[in-house]
Amino acid sequence: MSEAQTAPRKILITSALPYANGPIHLGHLVEYIQTDIWSRFQKMRGHECTYVCADDAHGTPIMLRAQAEGITPEALIAKSSEEHQADFAGFNVKFDHYHSTNSPENKTFAEYIYNELNAKGYISRKTITQAYDPEKEMFLPDRFVKGTCPKCNSEDQYGDNCEVCGATYSPTDLIDPKSAVSGATPIEKETDHLFFELGQFEDMLKEWTRAGHLQSQIANKLDEWLESGLRGWDISRDAPYFGFEIPGEKDKFFYVWLDAPIGYMSSFKAYCDKTGLDFDEYWKSGSTTELYHFIGKDIINFHALFWPAMLSGAGFRTPNAVFAHGFLTVDGQKMSKSRGTFIMAKTYLEHLNPEYLRYYYAAKLSGRIDDIDLNLEDFAQRVNSDLVGKVVNIASRCAGFVVKKFDGKLATSWSNDANELYQSFTAKSEEIADLYEQREYGHAMREIMTLADKANEYIAETAPWVLAKEEGKETELLESVSVGINLFRALMSYLAPVIPETADKARAFLNLESWEWNAIQKPLMGHEITKFKALLTRLEMPQIEKMIEASAESLANTSSAPDGKKDDKKPKSNKQQKQETAQVSNELEPIAEQITIDDFVKIDLRIAKIVNAEAVPEAKKLLKLTLDIGLEQRQVFAGIKSAYEPEDLIGKLTVMVANLAPRKMRFGLSEGMVLAAGPGGSDLYILSPDEGAIPGQRVK
Ligand code: MSP
Ligand code: ZN
Repeated sequence: MSEAQTAPRKILITSALPYANGPIHLGHLVEYIQTDIWSRFQKMRGHECTYVCADDAHGTPIMLRAQAEGITPEALIAKSSEEHQADFAGFNVKFDHYHSTNSPENKTFAEYIYNELNAKGYISRKTITQAYDPEKEMFLPDRFVKGTCPKCNSEDQYGDNCEVCGATYSPTDLIDPKSAVSGATPIEKETDHLFFELGQFEDMLKEWTRAGHLQSQIANKLDEWLESGLRGWDISRDAPYFGFEIPGEKDKFFYVWLDAPIGYMSSFKAYCDKTGLDFDEYWKSGSTTELYHFIGKDIINFHALFWPAMLSGAGFRTPNAVFAHGFLTVDGQKMSKSRGTFIMAKTYLEHLNPEYLRYYYAAKLSGRIDDIDLNLEDFAQRVNSDLVGKVVNIASRCAGFVVKKFDGKLATSWSNDANELYQSFTAKSEEIADLYEQREYGHAMREIMTLADKANEYIAETAPWVLAKEEGKETELLESVSVGINLFRALMSYLAPVIPETADKARAFLNLESWEWNAIQKPLMGHEITKFKALLTRLEMPQIEKMIEASAESLANTSSAPDGKKDDKKPKSNKQQKQETAQVSNELEPIAEQITIDDFVKIDLRIAKIVNAEAVPEAKKLLKLTLDIGLEQRQVFAGIKSAYEPEDLIGKLTVMVANLAPRKMRFGLSEGMVLAAGPGGSDLYILSPDEGAIPGQRVK
């Protein structure tokens, strides 16, 4: 309650800007729903909270995608923006402003920030050698060069590393390299690039990352990078490129990730211009307003290193906090197109109520960066038992009596017992608020459902349906249903940030003006309510199954990758396309050439315990594993980064080839290989023997 008397906080919050070349899917929605709940919560508390976002519209993949579709990049991003906003609105994600990084505001800020950094000596110039497509006349990002791996001779590998053997190299090392854009053989060409000298911010970042702006898991991760020293960040790209030209340069453009976070400022600026809010109050150095960025754990370095350094270098304030969340899995596995669990926002909305997913995500979310799992059966069960069974039910059981027997008027007074019960609900207000504030939504939902259980017990005990049949029990009946309705109101008020559409319907039924966090401190006495209409229906498994089927079908017909790399989105290699068709049709690799038992015994397979696993920051696919094979420990670089979180692997048993000749890689020696199955990328499964197998035992 003290909160209500202090001045409202001024808060600006953002979600990461979705790429303009792919549709919104349920993975993205973890973030937008998480942020939207926080925004709605802050607003309910009476704070001045602004939630902005935008489409991330620049970069090579968007340029090439537009060309492939025979439209201008501007037309492509306009279409995307419309689709994205429709999807977000469908999930009740309510931005105060939605902008684009390809906007005049963003151009102004990108240029301003660059000029400031340049003037202060934070920009350097270096000549680099890059693959160049002589036919298309453009420099090729590593991912747009394909060829045969120089180490293992696997065909159709990308220019940065081999998906088969894990070797890393530069595009020019590939045997028979080809441009993925034109098919031409790339040549090597020198070009000047501009670098943001992150090293000059080492002290600033060491302090900032440890000053409570980051979750501890993240601060720890960043420590490793900071310890190994910060190199310059390449912020320029050569023409042709879809983006902003760099002032004072010819045919050089800002790399998409340079102007992407600046999009947060630009979106807010456009909102200020519309509403009269003071931009400087929120962004000037030393600002006392609050700034928070919600992001996924894959884009931490951009937000927790580059961005604070850019801001401070250019004389702006830095964020109060960067809130990272984990990734979505469906039924315990990465979203998969073949299983139909790569679900687009649009497909979901064609089948199910968005409030279900909002509640389920809330029930699963915490302030940590753990992945969250959408278990489809649990989803239906949780929604039905909590929202429909425990919450909505209270209103439907009480409302009829109030309307029919008491002209819709709630009691004007009630017993001490009733008062005590009601107060036990409102007494939780600050605790629940605190959980929302800390993004401990799952915990908050559990507290709210415990209250809902209590409300249902009260109704079962007072049994209004029995009282209604007895003579002379009007007072008791009125008290029972009036308390019931008031408890329902308190629950709905607590849930309003999570299920705003349902809360809105409940608000109409309860005849209330708005949901304000502290309003429930005063119960509704002698208040008139209206006729109850169904708020939410049960979620049935067949509806979910239909959605999964529709999802599998819609993806079987498209070849576009909805979720691409965070960096430059890569075109599909033949191998990937083959893999995808293989998944859809369940086609498996043919059995290899026959070998004899003598051939087989040459391979020394051992049970290995993964005693440590860590990402190799410079390699997109590799994890560095330390394997205990009883006799000794081995270091192995495995190309399984997109399939596993390192921390999930630690302690697991697997099988390794122990007598494979060690191979020197850029990051160190790889002393063997672990066995894994699957087409690759995130669809990869390491083999794990049952518990009990002893590290070092030979597999025969
Ligand atoms: N365009 C960049 C962000 C620029 S921010 C200045 C980008 N775009 S994205 O479309 O790939 O992702 C947008 C957000 O959604 C990111 O925070 C990302 O982590 C999040 N997610 C994308 N897929 C996700 C899951 N499968 N699960 C949870 N969040 C995911 O990155
Ligand atoms: Zn290879």
